Amino acid sequence: MTTAQKTLRSVVLGVGCYLPSRCVSNADMEKMVDTSDDWIVQRTGITQRYIAAEGETTSMLGLNAAKAALENAGVAASDIDLIIVATSTPDYTFPAVATQIQAGLGLQTGVAFDLQAVCSGFVFAVATADKFLISGSHKRALVIGAETFSRLLDWEDRTTCVLFGDGAGAMVLEAQEGEGTAQDRGVLTSHLRSDGRHRAKLYVDGGPSTTQTTGHLRMIGKEVYRHAVGMVTDVMLDAFKATGTSAQTLDWFVPHQANRRIIDSSAEKLGIAPEKVVTTVDRHGNTSAASIPLALCVAVADGRIQKGQLVMIEAMGGGFTWGSALIRW
Ligand code: UT7
Repeated sequence: MTTAQKTLRSVVLGVGCYLPSRCVSNADMEKMVDTSDDWIVQRTGITQRYIAAEGETTSMLGLNAAKAALENAGVAASDIDLIIVATSTPDYTFPAVATQIQAGLGLQTGVAFDLQAVCSGFVFAVATADKFLISGSHKRALVIGAETFSRLLDWEDRTTCVLFGDGAGAMVLEAQEGEGTAQDRGVLTSHLRSDGRHRAKLYVDGGPSTTQTTGHLRMIGKEVYRHAVGMVTDVMLDAFKATGTSAQTLDWFVPHQANRRIIDSSAEKLGIAPEKVVTTVDRHGNTSAASIPLALCVAVADGRIQKGQLVMIEAMGGGFTWGSALIRW
């Protein structure tokens, strides 16, 4: 006689987030570069962003978000055996931000590492943590997106400096048994892609092995925009196909928060109703790998996202990299 094989799923136990205290409005930006509130709002939907204080690092933001997520999940730090931090703005070239957060949580066990996929980082990190958890090798993961993009910006370049902000968000995932159907709670599927030919459209012009400096973010915004909607809708369709779900069965669409127009066009292309779209880019700006966990944190805190609901996350960013993950909350 054989016993039925159960499927392991990575189930969300909680989320948390953290924003620096300094809020910079579009009116403040008008004093720094030749821009206007009108231009920024019309082109991006952004009205303000948060900027880390001097000395406030990515690992500090990430640690605060991690603590909030652990509290929301009702899980002790000592129960975590895997920490993945998605970031492109580490405190130092090495060691990883993840090991600093591990130490900050008082942990000496488990494994902690960083993952670099720029704005797609959080989706890549959720997908990576999911592979660890469903393999049975690890039990509980802390997945963090934390960034201080303000440190990478050329504050004299109005085409980029108005777009980004700092912040961090975190999610606790636990391996639990499911039935192997789309009704299971947890990460149901993930689809990651990359294409390095697009490097020059969005990159940082410095680094340890080139200039030995940190460098500044450079972007040909129009080129990124041109590819974004097609790429993210492709990987969302992959997720629907893999799970037998659809835009209609989705409860919440929580996209990377780069630009209101990209978010609206992606939702419209797939027929996702506007009231199902979680948007925080207006308040947070583009916080790169932190944007999705920040948005999840907001929508959980205000009661929109509930247990059992179907939530799609997706992102596209430098590389290019892009990906989706479909989660039953
Ligand atoms: O998270 C990673 C993914 N990144 C993205 O998704 C970003 C994707 N790209 C975008 O969101 C948009 O391309 C932007 C918001 C960055 C720019 O919008 P756009 O409609 O593509 O504008 P543009 O770059 O074509 O610039 C239009 C005009 C230019 O002036 P001229 O040449 O037409 O006279 C720019 O110089 O707007 C000017 N401009 C500005 N004006 C006022 C550029 N930046 C600014 C600014 N304030 N901050």
